[in-house]
Amino acid sequence: MLSPVSWNDGGVHIIKQTLLPDQEVWVDLKTVDEVARAIRCLDIRGAPAIGVAAALGMAHAARLYTGNDPLELSRNVEEAGAVLAGTRPTAVNLFWAIDRMKKKLDELSGQDAAAIRSGLLEEAQRIREEDIWACQSIGRHGAEFMPDRGWVLTHCNAGALATAGYGTALGVIRAAVEAGKDIHVYADETRPLLQGARLTSWELMRDGIPVTLICDNAAGHLMRLGKVQACVVGADRIAQNGDTANKIGTYTVAVLAHQHGIPFYVAAPTSTVDLSLATGEQIPIEERDAAEITTPRNTCFAPKEVPVLNPAFDVTPNNLIHAIITENGAAAHPHMTEKLKTLVGTRNK
Ligand code: MRU
Repeated sequence: MLSPVSWNDGGVHIIKQTLLPDQEVWVDLKTVDEVARAIRCLDIRGAPAIGVAAALGMAHAARLYTGNDPLELSRNVEEAGAVLAGTRPTAVNLFWAIDRMKKKLDELSGQDAAAIRSGLLEEAQRIREEDIWACQSIGRHGAEFMPDRGWVLTHCNAGALATAGYGTALGVIRAAVEAGKDIHVYADETRPLLQGARLTSWELMRDGIPVTLICDNAAGHLMRLGKVQACVVGADRIAQNGDTANKIGTYTVAVLAHQHGIPFYVAAPTSTVDLSLATGEQIPIEERDAAEITTPRNTCFAPKEVPVLNPAFDVTPNNLIHAIITENGAAAHPHMTEKLKTLVGTRNK
């Protein structure tokens, strides 16, 4: 199984996603700053994957400290957590994983440096393994929502590359195909950074799942022609009421799906649900560099001086979402908020 982030004795092992699909380059990130830089520049991206990378980065910080003082080691790990928390603001999985590592660090207090080091590494590995399990379970729950045959549209990349493995939205598609459903995927190219074109189409072709790439603005046209039977996307943060932040353009897809009576599903692990936020209005939206729009890959697409807005995510209100599919089951209307709470409550039980 393709897994974009794992542990290697030399550090955090990742595939450099910014180079895909031209080159498949795997590297070991050897310092916490390298992990932070990789998250910021999207070498490692996707909500669950950046959470796993941060957890492994904190475990790595413990190993980079070679002394025997447990307090100094703990300080280094906490500093690593702070650096990693400053990388990207929207995906809550990042903060969820960092908090979990900090809780583990608290539990290990009183032990010697070697025990803290191995305890943190075990916890980070557990976070990674649980994510793979969660994705496979999302797939099982989500497959039944997929049509027996037809075209399913997805936006961005919510596949193996965005998780520890298997994927969320693509996990649902993968499980449906494994169950014998005859599904063909429309991958939105996903401007400005083309996660759909570069990553989703690469990943699905690699797995032999039929995929057709479309530009984002073709989605409405295809829906109007009756050529899309369902939409499924991932999520970066889901508020208590089901409002969902995901890659910019997701809201547009949801509005179009609503207009055409096409079911729109969100697939995400419960680590993406942020019960501390009542609605999606409180979700912080990352603004990224204007150059991603004006000069992607150093090619001039617009005058460099033109004023640019580059929000990386948008929020889809819960009324446009048919169901949120998690590893513990699906939350749908009319009791989406209560159901989501129950699903999060059953985490790790
Ligand atoms: O900016 P990115 O590429 O990290 O954005 C990723 C997305 O929006 C994904 O759809 C989301 O993280 C879900 S990943 C399973």
